[in-house]
Amino acid sequence: MKISVVGSINIDMDIVAERIPLKGETVKGSDIKYIPGGKGANQAVSMARLGADVDFYGCVGDDAYGKILLENLKNENINIDNIKIIENENSGMAIITIGENDNTIVVIPGANNYVSKKYVKEKELELLKSDLVVLQNEIPMETIKYVIDLCYDNNIAVLLNPAPAFKVEKEILDKVTYLTPNEHEAKLIFGEKTSIDEMLRLYPNKLIITLGSRGAVFANEKLEIINLPARKTKVVDTTGAGDTFNGAFAVRISQGYNMEEALSFANIAASLSTEKFGAQTGMPVMDEVLKFVEK
Ligand code: RIB
Repeated sequence: MKISVVGSINIDMDIVAERIPLKGETVKGSDIKYIPGGKGANQAVSMARLGADVDFYGCVGDDAYGKILLENLKNENINIDNIKIIENENSGMAIITIGENDNTIVVIPGANNYVSKKYVKEKELELLKSDLVVLQNEIPMETIKYVIDLCYDNNIAVLLNPAPAFKVEKEILDKVTYLTPNEHEAKLIFGEKTSIDEMLRLYPNKLIITLGSRGAVFANEKLEIINLPARKTKVVDTTGAGDTFNGAFAVRISQGYNMEEALSFANIAASLSTEKFGAQTGMPVMDEVLKFVEK
């Protein structure tokens, strides 16, 4: 079972502050760390840690961070053969402020802007060997649409994590196999006036709305709303929890588990990831998650 990610790779500048500053405000920070991140890379790491065979499609810059980011993915047993190094361009960077058990993120795409339709066309034959393709919204929208069409035409399952939030066209919603927005992203896609239950019933067994510390929710084929609560944990850093969730869900659903089983598993993986600092540091291996599944 091969899972491919077409997505972003960033270096995260993680700043720990007493709290997240308000508009126009200065607050005191206590620590700063540069660590690998990017929603695409994070989801790939989440899946590889859980034992999946993962190929990555994306771009880094020819800066010092690019080398670190490639090395990191390689060390996680992710196939990096298709990653392109862009000359005279910076690797993607995210400025993350962490405080009060939450975060805010500003992303500067850099080389992620080069994950173009042309680049995917060059890699198409390889990509078509995938059983599942995982996408996020940190690469150009034109590329996302192209990959979704390509996979749809070739019967390859697609998981789209629409983060950061953009309006997603109905045609895209219809073609993806799984769509995993959080509440904020879901409102942007379906409109403020549509209730969560109404949204879920439009796309049973496809739309999964993540609710942070409240877990995740979806509608089954009978249009019943199924809520899978999160595991309670001592939060150190929530950065990458959503990515861990997406990666873990992708792995478990690919292994043939049903929606409830795959989502409960993903909730546990995501909760474990919040117990350590940084997006990828706390991502669990299979045995760590299974300990809690059995309970
Ligand atoms: O989801 C967390 C990620 O969002 C961070 O690692 C950062 O790079 C941004 O892409």
